[in-house]
Amino acid sequence: TVYPVILCGGSGTRLWPLSRKSYPKQFVPLIGETSLLQDCAERMRGPSDNPYAKPLILTNEAFRFVVPEQLTAIDVDPGPILIEPEGRNTAPAVLAAALYLAAGDPEAVMLVAPSDHVIPDNSAFHQAVSEGLQAIGARGDLVTFGISPDRPETGYGYLKLNHAPDGSSAAVPLDRFVEKPDLESAKSMLADGSYLWNSGIFLFAARDIIAAFEQYSPALIEPVKQAVSGAKTDLGFLRLDAEAWATVEDISIDYAVMEKATNLSVVPYSAGWSDVGSWSAVQELTNPDANGVATTGEVTAIDCRNVLVRSESSSQQVVAMGLENVIAVAMPDAVLVASMDKAQDVKQAVAALKAKG
Ligand code: GDD
Ligand code: MG
Repeated sequence: TVYPVILCGGSGTRLWPLSRKSYPKQFVPLIGETSLLQDCAERMRGPSDNPYAKPLILTNEAFRFVVPEQLTAIDVDPGPILIEPEGRNTAPAVLAAALYLAAGDPEAVMLVAPSDHVIPDNSAFHQAVSEGLQAIGARGDLVTFGISPDRPETGYGYLKLNHAPDGSSAAVPLDRFVEKPDLESAKSMLADGSYLWNSGIFLFAARDIIAAFEQYSPALIEPVKQAVSGAKTDLGFLRLDAEAWATVEDISIDYAVMEKATNLSVVPYSAGWSDVGSWSAVQELTNPDANGVATTGEVTAIDCRNVLVRSESSSQQVVAMGLENVIAVAMPDAVLVASMDKAQDVKQAVAALKAKG
């Protein structure tokens, strides 16, 4: 059985003011009517003729009510919700999920997915997962999903196929996993042509990922085991033991395991993926017209080019005139007006506001 494991712990500060620390982007209807978490949970039902198990969700104290509320609203029965006492990044979270699932089903296969990505084609995604399952069955591999790169992005992991991508969608063994390269390396990997971006979605048998942690990040095993075995159930939540969790290293699964493992495969995925890392990504996903004008809510745009204009309140009319390369997001309590070129730097605005107190 495939057990979806949904990572729901992050805070996307580059999408301020819509995404807030207390209510980050996965909970917000960013594209369309439903939230990214709801879209993820919908996708994680699996194919209708062969559904996946109930999702296991990892989140923190602050989001424990919004998560089940949003899932219930779309008729998804939330499985167990694991609460991390503090964010320790993705490696401890995934290991905790693996230990928990393997205890209940030694054959469990985990489909680990961030809750804040846009993946428009659910059936193509399910097909990619079934390609990945074959690599697990044949080789016990840790499976990644790879996206064709179109720029030398330094915020992603890079996956080196052992041959140039040939358009096939079957799983391919990986030569190398490079997490967050510097710009120069990113440029040369892009030019090389045999690299894909890591989507951040993973598929592996719980048993195999536990073995990989034992081999490559053994120091995580004991404290995470203790946090899971000492977990307390309360009202459908499973709270990891805080004392044990406090001693766990803060590290991502990419560095803790993926860069070091030798049994990696990638399923090339070309049916659309975005981690919606910035407002310019949102603009591209909001069906811009021929002039690049993308709007959401009560917005009138006149003589604009390459803009994203959003009104986040039905009682607030926003009019944009003669703007070019501008992001404007109007919330009842905060407004962002920025050059499109500054899309990556919006987190600086958040830092500046925080400094002001
Ligand atoms: N539950 C939980 N707990 N979730 C977490 C935690 C945590 O401590 N830390 C991060 N997450 C969630 C985030 O909310 C996000 O959905 C996902 O895990 C990935 O974390 P990011 O912090 O966004 O990772 P990244 O963007 O730097 O890099 C990863 O994703 C890229 C693609 O978007 C890596 O896997 C890269 O290799 C990859 O290219
Ligand atoms: Mg990310």
